[in-house]
Amino acid sequence: MSDPVLEERILQRLMDSGKYSNVYEGTLRKIISTMTLRFKKEKEIEKNVRKKLHQIYGAYQVLSIKYQVLGIDDILKSHVSTAERMGFYEEFYGKIFAVLGEPGKKYKIYDAACGLNPFSAFYFKERVELYHCSDIDVEANKEINRFFTENGLSNFSSSNRDLMVDEIPFSDYDVVFLFKTLSCIERQEKGSAKKILHNALVAPVVVVSFPSKSIGGKEKGMVENYSNFLEELLVDISHTKTVLHFPTEAVYVIFKSSGESK
Ligand SMILES: C[S@@+](CC[C@H](N)C(=O)[O-])C[C@H]1O[C@@H](n2cnc3c(N)ncnc32)[C@H](O)[C@@H]1O
Repeated sequence: MSDPVLEERILQRLMDSGKYSNVYEGTLRKIISTMTLRFKKEKEIEKNVRKKLHQIYGAYQVLSIKYQVLGIDDILKSHVSTAERMGFYEEFYGKIFAVLGEPGKKYKIYDAACGLNPFSAFYFKERVELYHCSDIDVEANKEINRFFTENGLSNFSSSNRDLMVDEIPFSDYDVVFLFKTLSCIERQEKGSAKKILHNALVAPVVVVSFPSKSIGGKEKGMVENYSNFLEELLVDISHTKTVLHFPTEAVYVIFKSSGESK
């Protein structure tokens, strides 16, 4: 049964703790309320909330990134996903935009669960009419907006949003980036990847990616597993797609076909 006083106490402790004080409040509230329904004792509930938060947030983050003193390259290196792309960012965007369409065309882009990817803006800013990104990290959100302002990227902006809690206006965009996110989201709640991909596909194109190597560098058939996973998510959606392979990531550019559902 839900217990608002107990939930508020756990929320306060998490917000005061160094480790998760930077997580968007909507996300903390969602996880606390899920665990309150699943477990009885306060200690048990909090232990499982922290476990979940580690899965979705802590595992990818280097604690306390010193944004103010680091250069862009070092910021990109402090998040696993962006660090891995450092060797091929130019090729990464070059190939994605080549699949999207005409050379030089500008797009309205939504980068969902963006992590620190917005700091790679210099690699693709010429292709942007409008760019909005969101994630659940409060400090990163502030720093991303500061980075946009300081670099005169006036058509770029960032906000805190949880893909499982907030309604996101994907239909206002031409392209949605969902880089390395669906597998992470599915671990939070079974069935959520499908829901989020279907929501995103109100936009004409969604660019999804999955890791092709584990964090330790092993391959273990990941490309095939995630490719099958994506096929299942897309089973009732009429679409065409192109796959691009990069050293540590497989990218799928998914075009929704007119007529929508099969
Ligand atoms: C593997 S990282 C990928 C980051 C970025 N898209 C990239 O590829 O560089 C997954 C990201 O999903 C974010 N995330 C996890 N659960 C989320 C949720 N429910 N809503 C929004 N973002 C979420 C995490 O904070 C993390 O930044």
